[in-house]
Amino acid sequence: MRTLRPNVYSVGAIDWDTRLFDRLIPLPDGTSYNAYVVKGSEKTALLDTVDPTMTAVLLNNIVKIGADKLDYIIAHHGEQDHSGSLSDVLLMYPDAKIVTNSRCKEMLIDLLDIEDDKFVTIDDGQTLSLGDKTLQFVYTPWVHWPETMSTYVPEDKILFSCDFFGAHLATSSLFVDDEATVYEAAKRYYAEIMMPFRKQINANLTKLANLDIEMIGPSHGPVYDKPGFIIEAYRDWVSDSVRNKVVVPYVSMHGSTGEMVSHFVEALMDRDIIVKQFELSTVDIGKLAIELVDAATIVIGSPTVLAGAHPAAVYAAFMANAIRPKAKFASIIGSFGWGGKTVEQLTGLMSNLKIELLEPVLVKGQPKEAAFVAIDRLADEILAKHKEAGIVN
Ligand code: FEO
Repeated sequence: MRTLRPNVYSVGAIDWDTRLFDRLIPLPDGTSYNAYVVKGSEKTALLDTVDPTMTAVLLNNIVKIGADKLDYIIAHHGEQDHSGSLSDVLLMYPDAKIVTNSRCKEMLIDLLDIEDDKFVTIDDGQTLSLGDKTLQFVYTPWVHWPETMSTYVPEDKILFSCDFFGAHLATSSLFVDDEATVYEAAKRYYAEIMMPFRKQINANLTKLANLDIEMIGPSHGPVYDKPGFIIEAYRDWVSDSVRNKVVVPYVSMHGSTGEMVSHFVEALMDRDIIVKQFELSTVDIGKLAIELVDAATIVIGSPTVLAGAHPAAVYAAFMANAIRPKAKFASIIGSFGWGGKTVEQLTGLMSNLKIELLEPVLVKGQPKEAAFVAIDRLADEILAKHKEAGIVN
């Protein structure tokens, strides 16, 4: 039995084997779909369910902790990795009511076809007594859908935050036992789905500062029994500050763009700028996303193919535009054969980003001395811009 506090249990499922979420996001370490049971002296609540592929694990765990009835199922979020087993749980516990906000209720009806009379809707700040334990609902929107909310149990000082603070990590440890590993997984998760909403997340963090939180139970990854480190990490990630770092996603077909990228990376290192280079045909986009969380500058390396950017570079620009990193500067380097619209295409794809475009370096054919001089000039300009922005002294 996995117990967070007396009468508070973890009943979710560990998914060791899955390697892709939403047919898009790599899961190098699997994930978990956490669900919790809070047993009060009078009522019992299940907080979230699990992905429909693992419903049997959830139902078995609920039985194992001896919950002979469920009065409430708290739905923090409509996405199916947490709501997908609701119908099966209702079949087993037909008297249970789904407790959620009105926006989430609408989503659950749309996504899962659950009947209206199964729901009890609550408002931000409302409480629900289980007897000797209380559920206090806290709206925490945009982590990462508009309806997302959390539940605080004041008697146990636990915040159940759903995706917020989560980490795709399959582990047998109920609690965080290796902060560095969890930090990396949580940063990856933040980068992939939370980053576009960092202003709203900042507001959520301010709101949570009013609560005395000793433990955070997210819906993915281990429980934080010392939550300070993940709250501080989030504060850093959502802040406006960036690091003296350049992310260089690139692809090269016959070596010319690759040669330019190698020279550029060396030039940045010579100027004491942190560099993260990613070859786009083999990249783990999660690792690229992690580095975009706090990089000051993005420089895409792309050859010109079929009169435009290489499709792998298009994908990187499109993804960066979608996840909206707080980078301040960008540029493009690469080689072309006879012309094309590589720069216009890539910059057009990044219209969401509030970046200053630094003079791109595009060369015809193999890079020669003039190209390397231009690349050195770009490295100088990046250093000057970082200094100007107060990122480096
Ligand atoms: Fe883990 Fe947004 O669901």
